[in-house]
Amino acid sequence: MKRLTLLIVAITVLVWLNPASAQSYAYTVIANPGEDASTEIRLNWHTDTGSGDSYIIYTKKRDRHWRKAITIQANQALCTVFDSIYSKRPNGENFFEDARFIRNTVALQGLKAGTEYMYVLSSDRPSSTVSFAPGDSEIRFFRTAPESPEWAMGIISDIHVYAPLPDRQRAAMKMIQQLERQNRKPFDMMLNVGDIAAWGGSYSFWPTLYADSTFSRYVWAGVNGNHDNMTRQNAQSNGFFRNVNNNPLNGYDGETGVSYHFTYGNTLFVMLNNEAMRSEEGLAKAQNWTREVINNNPAEYIIVVSHYQWFMGGDGSSSQYSRWKELFDQYGVGLAISGNNHIYVRTNALYADRETDGTKGTVYIQAPSADNERGFSITTISSGIAGLKVTRPSGP
Ligand SMILES: [Fe+2]
Repeated sequence: MKRLTLLIVAITVLVWLNPASAQSYAYTVIANPGEDASTEIRLNWHTDTGSGDSYIIYTKKRDRHWRKAITIQANQALCTVFDSIYSKRPNGENFFEDARFIRNTVALQGLKAGTEYMYVLSSDRPSSTVSFAPGDSEIRFFRTAPESPEWAMGIISDIHVYAPLPDRQRAAMKMIQQLERQNRKPFDMMLNVGDIAAWGGSYSFWPTLYADSTFSRYVWAGVNGNHDNMTRQNAQSNGFFRNVNNNPLNGYDGETGVSYHFTYGNTLFVMLNNEAMRSEEGLAKAQNWTREVINNNPAEYIIVVSHYQWFMGGDGSSSQYSRWKELFDQYGVGLAISGNNHIYVRTNALYADRETDGTKGTVYIQAPSADNERGFSITTISSGIAGLKVTRPSGP
């Protein structure tokens, strides 16, 4: 009896240490906002090759018996961008990832604003159109953007999910729970500011992270970080980020599904890939696209999200701030969010390099790292820029 108990414990521990090995039918499941997040939600999930067609069955959460459930067949494509990439297992062993799978995508349109939906993913089309029973299928949820101007998003950055160090993911998920407690209720949506994975090219890191319940409860919008863009051997590709999301396809040439924009209530979000902005030419391309997006999508507030820090948190010196401040001033960007530097930084509203009374200008925020490894303590720094304050992160 004792031996049996131990065996069960051992199996449980193995499965717990490596959730990817206990993969269910659909894995790496994520809901992303559509271009208009009040009426469109886009989903990505992966299934094994040879597992056939895949369907999403969804309805409003309050339709408890799934009486009005709608079934949509996913678009499918073979994804090989992660295949044979040099990686690490949870036990530290080196290996080449065997990662060829079917990427399923669906854009749900005509949704109702401010509404919570539930969905399941299935290899079968339900036989009855009158009622549907989810059976053993996992029920996941998403919420469309509300019509009201009040909403709350959780922000997390720099988790660097890495199989041999599962505490990173655990610390980040605990941080989200702490944010939820602060907010006193679930968020409307989650924002990820990049470096969610230590090596975006290591496929096994993604299903492990996305198996967390945070991913089956929220819509997520993220940006590509330098770590998401790389393999263990430092090969670069924005294809890793693209294929573990189903972002709106409104980005510019080469960045479709990676750089994108969406409207959330009264706010336009412009989501940028900093890996495509390293050169001056790349920056000009991104900025021309940003100007066009802002001109074509009038909104009360504009938020720009990009992974690389606006300021160096250690000494307050300018980083991406210098490259973007004029555009932000000119186009009325109210909030600029970044990460990467692993130090929490927040300014008051800045316009033309000066602090304003808040009626004009851009507030710059940098999220700290969330893995409980790379952050470090710092209190206040002096800066040449009025209004820049660097404070110690309060999270775990
Ligand atoms: Fe990072």
